[in-house]
Amino acid sequence: MNSNIDLVIFGARGDLAERKLLPALYQLDRAGLLDDSMRIAGLARQEVTTEEFVGNTHENLNKYVPDSDWDEQCWARFSSRLTYVKVDFSKQEEYQNLKDWLNEERTQIYYMATPPSIFGSICENLNGSGCVFESSRIVLEKPIGHDLKSSKAVNGTVGEFFPERNIYRIDHYLGKETVQNLLALRFANRMINSQWDNTCVDHVQITAAETVGIEGRWSYYDKVGQLRDMVQNHLLQLLCMVAMEPPNSLQADEIRAEKVKILRALSPITEDNVVEQSVRGQYAAGWIDGEPVVGYMEEEGSERNTSDTETFVALKTYVDNWRWAGVPFYLRTGKRMKAKGTEVVISYKEHPHAIFPDSGDQANNRLIIRLQPNEGIELEMFSKKQGLKERSSLEKRTLNLDFFDSSGESRIADAYETLLLEVIKGDQWLFVSRGEVESSWEWCDTLLDAWHSKGISTKPYGSGTWGPSKSEMLIEKDGRSWRED
Ligand code: BG6
Repeated sequence: MNSNIDLVIFGARGDLAERKLLPALYQLDRAGLLDDSMRIAGLARQEVTTEEFVGNTHENLNKYVPDSDWDEQCWARFSSRLTYVKVDFSKQEEYQNLKDWLNEERTQIYYMATPPSIFGSICENLNGSGCVFESSRIVLEKPIGHDLKSSKAVNGTVGEFFPERNIYRIDHYLGKETVQNLLALRFANRMINSQWDNTCVDHVQITAAETVGIEGRWSYYDKVGQLRDMVQNHLLQLLCMVAMEPPNSLQADEIRAEKVKILRALSPITEDNVVEQSVRGQYAAGWIDGEPVVGYMEEEGSERNTSDTETFVALKTYVDNWRWAGVPFYLRTGKRMKAKGTEVVISYKEHPHAIFPDSGDQANNRLIIRLQPNEGIELEMFSKKQGLKERSSLEKRTLNLDFFDSSGESRIADAYETLLLEVIKGDQWLFVSRGEVESSWEWCDTLLDAWHSKGISTKPYGSGTWGPSKSEMLIEKDGRSWRED
């Protein structure tokens, strides 16, 4: 186990730390995955004692950790790791409080649970106050910038103080069990991998649908929109995991190099094809789970009378390489949609020749990789209908690989547990490299420019639907349809 680790959480009294990081660390401790020597410091600018911080953490864990996972003995161990250090992040002299607590012989992990706009100044102050050592690691939350130029600036500043091998850029989708299982599915199953290209695959769909709205984040979200919030990172990471070539090994560098190749091969959506290959939407009022909900413009915190920020995006793109030439990748993500669900669907091509005349309107084989809810993988296959009279009729059956049932574990770990554990171990395989961030911004910038120059505005859609009708048209004009089972 990794010993002598000090985890320092910047923004320890914020939502991310309270809702995700501290509960994830508690769960790791409960699973026996934290070395006894590990210490955790919460940093924020409020004048709070360690006792108060511990009390506050206890309250939050009660809120965010299920009762069935509560263990007094574990809490006693976990709480003894916690210290609160008061630091105003903008004042270098206050970093002395941190320095006094640090020990150069140990490994520091600096977790930035803060707005990205201050990553750079925190790094400068950490360095200026002598808190950065050769083995110090830094963890950055998204977004890394707003476009290619600003992401380069953030990466550049952080890179002045931390080498790339010590920078861990989080995309929490990479911590999800099914995303990692995608690697196992593809590279541990020869029969799957041999059917994974343009000779067998008709098209790929990636959907991340949410029923929630913008959850009180209007002023942040209105400047960002769904393309930057979800596509630039989560959806493109999923696309990379689906499309990348087999890496030479599971080493971080090998995997990350393959992902960059895919991002560079992504066919750009430009002024010439943006009308046919993209749809922007914004939710209007509607119903979610039988309850009325307001539209985007009426959300709490709405600051303007009109806004053209998209809360829904549907795209069609291609990966221009030998394996995927000609195979469309359809991406779709939106807030306030009919149901919550994130999945990848691999649709296989038709048979070269149909010998089952009574098979009716059969769909082709599909492989469905479900990230949430009900993590698992389904393979839709066809078998003969049972019965003496059914000589040549087919029916669709599903082979189901349900992770929750088969794992024997009582729970599936939250993405943050997985990611924190990897940072502690010092393994970057589930983190995003600088090359990936910048390549994905480059692709998104081209699309954003095309939206801008062609004046592509948002289409309204009712909350509780699958987005604007143009999204159906985007795929149906190719003779295909979104999977909405
Ligand atoms: C975050 C986005 O990165 O991912 C949110 O900023 C979004 O807007 C969230 O709601 C979705 O994550 P998940 O794990 O619920 O799919």
